[in-house]
Amino acid sequence: MSGRLAGLAGRTAVVTGGAQGIGAAVVERLCAEGCRVVILDKDPAHGRTLVDGLRQQGHTVRLAVGDVTDAAAVRTAFAGVPAHWSPPTLLVNLAAGFVFKGLEATAADWRAVLDPTIVGLSLVTRSFVAGLPERDADAAIVNMASISAHIAQEGYLTYNSSKAAVLGLTRCLAQELAPRGVRVNSVSPGTVWNANNERYHREALGLDRAAAEAAPEHGGKFLLGRFADPAEVAAPIAFLLSAEASFITGTDLAVDGGYLAV
Ligand SMILES: NC(=O)c1ccc[n+]([C@@H]2O[C@H](COP(=O)([O-])OP(=O)(O)OC[C@H]3O[C@@H](n4cnc5c(N)ncnc54)[C@H](O)[C@@H]3O)[C@@H](O)[C@H]2O)c1
Repeated sequence: MSGRLAGLAGRTAVVTGGAQGIGAAVVERLCAEGCRVVILDKDPAHGRTLVDGLRQQGHTVRLAVGDVTDAAAVRTAFAGVPAHWSPPTLLVNLAAGFVFKGLEATAADWRAVLDPTIVGLSLVTRSFVAGLPERDADAAIVNMASISAHIAQEGYLTYNSSKAAVLGLTRCLAQELAPRGVRVNSVSPGTVWNANNERYHREALGLDRAAAEAAPEHGGKFLLGRFADPAEVAAPIAFLLSAEASFITGTDLAVDGGYLAV
């Protein structure tokens, strides 16, 4: 599926955490839809590999290496958008802190998860909004939540609280930015089969994808009986950014193979 969602072609999009994993699939999908894309990511190696590959395919994509928690780096990333590109009017906030702890979490642990997921998200969004056209921006933002935002999971106090905060932040931003013509939504994926999850299942559990999906406590806990591919999360994100979702704001879309339904 590519190039068929209304209102995306010719737009400029910013994707944080776009160097790999789900973010890379979002970048690829938006390129296929005819967007110019800025990747804001702190990982230069993965970012450069992705950008080089996409440019070879004829796409227009730029890497801004920086940490979303660094206000100056965020401003530099937006200032670096080439003048002949349209100003960014699409934003996907995927960069996040991955800290999985319970009440034993220290203040430093909490900052390590909340700084990227919440503080960084708001810094990026502020720079994005500052650069929007004053009127009729027709802009859209998608934030990354998770099924973990909706449930309790043992030992996940830090991560789940941070993702639950993304839901609240999304609703508040939708209210604050509606007068500027900006829609703000989030997505809540279940487990996505990326390099990190592949490594975790292999090293910690001794399972390949087929074995993990056959296990009731892993892939089997999703109604569809499997994990998601990154492209299956990128597609609903592209939809929420597009004009097809023009009356959708302030909500969360579960992309979870039915996990939250039961
Ligand atoms: N993988 C899953 O199963 C899953 C499920 C639900 C939600 N999510 C969410 O999706 C998003 C992407 O997850 P993923 O699994 O693709 O991760 P990933 O580790 O494959 O990619 C994350 C990217 O974000 C970048 N990043 C992290 N912190 C950053 C920071 N402070 N500044 C700039 N860049 C930063 C990393 O360099 C990396 O390129 C996260 O928000 C995650 O919580 C993932």
